[in-house]
Amino acid sequence: MKKIITIIGARPQFIKASVVSDALKKNKKIQEIIIHTGQHFDSNMSDIFFNELTIPMPDYTLNIHSSSHGEMTANMLIEIEKILILEKPKAVIVYGDTNSTLAGALAASKLHIPIIHIEAGLRSFNMGMPEEINRILTDNVSSILFCPTETAVNNLQKEGFSSRQVKIINVGDVMEDSALYFSQLAKKPSEFKSMKNFILATLHRAENTDNKNRLSEIVNALNHIHKNIYPVVLPLHPRTNKMLKQHKLHLDVHLIEPVGYLQMLWLLQNTNLVITDSGGLQKEAFFFKKPCVTVRDQTEWIELIELGVNTLSDTKSENIIKAVKGFINTDIRYINSIYGGGTAAKKIANEIEKLL
Ligand code: UD1
Ligand code: UDP
Repeated sequence: MKKIITIIGARPQFIKASVVSDALKKNKKIQEIIIHTGQHFDSNMSDIFFNELTIPMPDYTLNIHSSSHGEMTANMLIEIEKILILEKPKAVIVYGDTNSTLAGALAASKLHIPIIHIEAGLRSFNMGMPEEINRILTDNVSSILFCPTETAVNNLQKEGFSSRQVKIINVGDVMEDSALYFSQLAKKPSEFKSMKNFILATLHRAENTDNKNRLSEIVNALNHIHKNIYPVVLPLHPRTNKMLKQHKLHLDVHLIEPVGYLQMLWLLQNTNLVITDSGGLQKEAFFFKKPCVTVRDQTEWIELIELGVNTLSDTKSENIIKAVKGFINTDIRYINSIYGGGTAAKKIANEIEKLL
């Protein structure tokens, strides 16, 4: 058996890992060991995904969360290193751009264990974002860079990766695999009251929640949209919950607890429009042909802007409202070639098989 270690810790990573783990399982010669750093730990931010998406239970759970970036990453690095020394895997898989990603990549690189980065090459070109730092550093120590888009491949080429001893492959986006695979299992959130038209919103990006002015502008916009356009349904991320309380801001919309992925898919299938600052939601809106207003100054998923299915808005209330009004009844064209059409996990598993 060839041992491979997957390191995950945050909500979107569970969703991505579910389809890749499933594809890896089909290869009887690969043994996957899962480390859950514990970065996300509430049952509706973690357990629910393992249970509903039948992800294998983590072999190691580190319970490291809720501290500063440096402390969190450092503690993860220490604990992951111990496991890597003990387990001696042939390679390590990391996903995306969280602190768990960076800690896993640093631990493996110091032990000269090949790193497989899934969702490599994405750039916002905003070094103020913790995610931009995490993804650039992770890409730079990885041996296999599985890119979700051509844009991501181009970003790496521009940074000189083509002349290095690394493999860069555009496999498509594993989130499209997940969305397609699990969409038949979508289920209505139990606390959701019957509504014909509604807007689905999510908000958690640190640059929005941790700045009182930006957060207050977004809150005002969502309250206005809820009252005057369509009801806004918002599964509240724990970071946003904390920051709303800290800044004494009141979101007067239909707030619900974070939901599982299957409930989220139902909300996506039934909404009229998505307002978000999430990376994953931007693409899921597209997969379900819903217009999306992204409340950020830039996006890594630039092809959606070029296609006219996603529009960026700064955080000014009036601009968010204007973007929503202008976009609400837009027909969205879905093109399955942009993100690979749901074949990313299979391609990743095939490549990993060749590597080991
Ligand atoms: C993290 C990622 C971000 C990703 C997001 C997905 C980093 C730097 N950020 O942001 O890229 O988009 O996950 O959702 O890695 N909390 C709870 N319960 C939980 C999880 C978090 O209460 O289950 C609280 C934490 O205690 C902390 C806050 O939420 O106070 C933020 O959590 P953290 O993991 O640091 O960052 P996210 O904002 O979740
Ligand atoms: N998601 C979920 N429940 C929620 C909010 C989001 O299952 O209450 C899913 C969402 O559908 C997407 C992923 O979590 O698949 C995105 O995670 P998040 O927005 O937390 O992180 P990002 O993608 O911005 O890193």
